Amino acid sequence: MYRIGKEEIAELTKVIESGDLFKINGGVRESENAEAKLRELFDCNHAIFLTSGHAALTSALVAMGIGPGDEVIVPAYTYIATPMAVVAAGAMPVIADVDDTLTLSAEDVRRKITKHTKAIIPVHIQGFPCDMDAITAIAKEYGIYVLEDACQADGGAYKGKRLGTIGDAGALSFNFFKIVTCGEGGAMLTNNRDFFERALIYHDSSAVAFFGDQMSGFSAEGFCGNEYRSNELCAAVLNVQLSRMDSTLADLRKNKKYVMDKLEGLCEFVPSHDIEGDCGTTLAFQFESEQAARAFATADGIGGTLPIDTGRHVYTHWTPIIEKRGAFNPLMDPFRMEANKEIVPEYTDGMCADTLDKLAKAVYIYVNPDSTQEELDELVNTVKNALEKI
Ligand SMILES: Cc1ncc(COP(=O)(O)O)c(C=O)c1O
Repeated sequence: MYRIGKEEIAELTKVIESGDLFKINGGVRESENAEAKLRELFDCNHAIFLTSGHAALTSALVAMGIGPGDEVIVPAYTYIATPMAVVAAGAMPVIADVDDTLTLSAEDVRRKITKHTKAIIPVHIQGFPCDMDAITAIAKEYGIYVLEDACQADGGAYKGKRLGTIGDAGALSFNFFKIVTCGEGGAMLTNNRDFFERALIYHDSSAVAFFGDQMSGFSAEGFCGNEYRSNELCAAVLNVQLSRMDSTLADLRKNKKYVMDKLEGLCEFVPSHDIEGDCGTTLAFQFESEQAARAFATADGIGGTLPIDTGRHVYTHWTPIIEKRGAFNPLMDPFRMEANKEIVPEYTDGMCADTLDKLAKAVYIYVNPDSTQEELDELVNTVKNALEKI
């Protein structure tokens, strides 16, 4: 759903001609500019451009001091990378139901909190904003962190604030499925100086102390972390992509709204916590039964997708998590660590039956920002025909 073209080629050419592809000393400073652009666009104090959304989530969790002995609440409907990031930090993912919007249920979060809970990860799945007021209020009440997974929601908003900047930290993904892409990439956003310092160290632990004076004025001391440093080529593409982000979002939202307005009263849509901030990537229809949802999804010309069929976005398909294989080396496996002994969760297929039920009664039709008026009208007619037949 992203747009890409000649501008990206021109920026890439500049980097290649400069001959310097290293993030820190890059001749044309694409990474530095990308991080500045992220801070400006997302109105936050700190942004780290790194290799993936998973790297952003893991770096943020580590920076928050989360590890063995801690529980982190994740929704039952998210890409498997979310719970995997929790395990990468050494903690235990606790799986909670989604609400009617198909995003993390604040009510179930409250039920799942224990004395071991250290953070909540609301996931703005498909660009649908989570109930951030309720989730941040619960986090405040219990003194725990909120890490927003905005990997499917680059640039989206909740009540006027960009997704990823409402909680204590946020993660974006720029992989090839996203609104903004640089092939592979991600960003960790935060207003918390300590989290920024530790995440910067963790994401590039071998180089951060030696190149570009990056740790000057840090109160955090270096520690061994990972290598999630990106590069000037990806940053060059990202810079152009970021300048396209808001116009792409505007067209996605406009097209989604057009179709929804034309269908008003003829069908039910999955509700939203903030339809203005929703990214507009997905028309989400809601039906009374799975049978009706399937009949609609497979009707002539619809090509719909039931979220229940989206594989590793549904907890029952998170095989290494559900089967508790947290690492190859058993001593490195958080599911077998002494510190987690008391808190290894029971995962069963039926544990979030309400989520499975909701996911089986919804149908997605993906929105194209470049649809013409004729194509949108054709889609409206195709949906009307399909609705009449089910
Ligand atoms: C909700 C969610 N979280 C995290 C990720 C991980 O992002 P990446 O593939 O950039 O590591 C993805 C990727 O698609 C995702 O959809």
